[in-house]
Amino acid sequence: MQNKKSRVFSGIQPTGNIHLGNYLGAIKNWVDRQDHYENIFCVVNSHAITIPQDPKILKEKTFELSAMLLACGIDPKKSTLFIQSQVQEHTSLAWLLTCITPMGDLNRMTQFKDKSQKNPKSILSGLFNYPNLMSADILLYQSDFVPVGEDQKQHIELARDTALRFNRDFGETFVIPKPLIMQEGARIMGLDDPSKKMSKSSGDKPNHLIALIDTPEEILKKFKKATTDSQNLITFDKERLGVYNLLTIYQCFTQKSQKTIEEEFKGEGYGKLKSKIAEVVIESLRPIRESYNYLITQKDYLEKILAEGAKSAREIAQKTYQDAKEKMGLI
Ligand code: TYM
Repeated sequence: MQNKKSRVFSGIQPTGNIHLGNYLGAIKNWVDRQDHYENIFCVVNSHAITIPQDPKILKEKTFELSAMLLACGIDPKKSTLFIQSQVQEHTSLAWLLTCITPMGDLNRMTQFKDKSQKNPKSILSGLFNYPNLMSADILLYQSDFVPVGEDQKQHIELARDTALRFNRDFGETFVIPKPLIMQEGARIMGLDDPSKKMSKSSGDKPNHLIALIDTPEEILKKFKKATTDSQNLITFDKERLGVYNLLTIYQCFTQKSQKTIEEEFKGEGYGKLKSKIAEVVIESLRPIRESYNYLITQKDYLEKILAEGAKSAREIAQKTYQDAKEKMGLI
């Protein structure tokens, strides 16, 4: 008899441009493992509004990101893909979880500290509560695993704690989820400053990120300008952040071992390294960009996939939410 597949859930915010960090830390792993798991992927637009957004742009970005996920290889026959705001149980369960989560737990979240420092004059309570919405996303689907980049680990640990607390106080309700974080690519750094994580919110800096929709010329130019060091030594040395980051990107795309890669570049300079990486990235992203450019014109198809996704997500979400609500004594 075949074992039941474990379920994965993950989400991504429709803000800024989707970049190599998102792709290597999360999306590529979702795509590569679609056959291993029962998959649910969500465009988390309700998370996006914890930072003020232009409504028109947010709508556009939500469709663009959905098209991009399909272009990257999310297959609607194997995975449920939907938009968070189309399944209202996310915000409903978030409220129940907000009511059992101590402020102290939320205060420890490093992403809240980082994001609130960027705009200290207007810190919205939604941003503070963000991790409760994320816990709701994960717990609604009784998810076994949550494939993410390293920056989300703390949020998933909070979701685990919240699930354990709920189960203890109200009876067995939620599956306790585990983070699924890859060894390589879990933390891709900015090309301009490899001491900082590659991030959509730094996307206005010209050489910070490689967007999945960048043209071959843009990709080559950005890699050529990537910050390295003066040692001219091509080895996987974690202390030399710039070269390590470039080699990691190369490793993720080629799937070669570190030893093979070091052999390949023995005696070569950074110029060669950069052009070789650019070439591999350009060729890997080419079909994604082409597929995206087509899909984004297919609005009806996109809406159909997302409506079907929301329908099957809702079926699971409603059951879990009803159960949690009743257990808490809400009529
Ligand atoms: P978001 O939208 O910032 O990022 C989406 C995914 O990309 C990963 N990531 C990276 N991985 C490697 N290197 C980087 N530089 C890098 N930057 C981003 C993130 O870890 C993430 O996996 N809070 C989440 C969205 C979310 C979610 C969820 C995720 C909401 N609910 C439930 C999982 C489960 C976020 O802001 O991701």
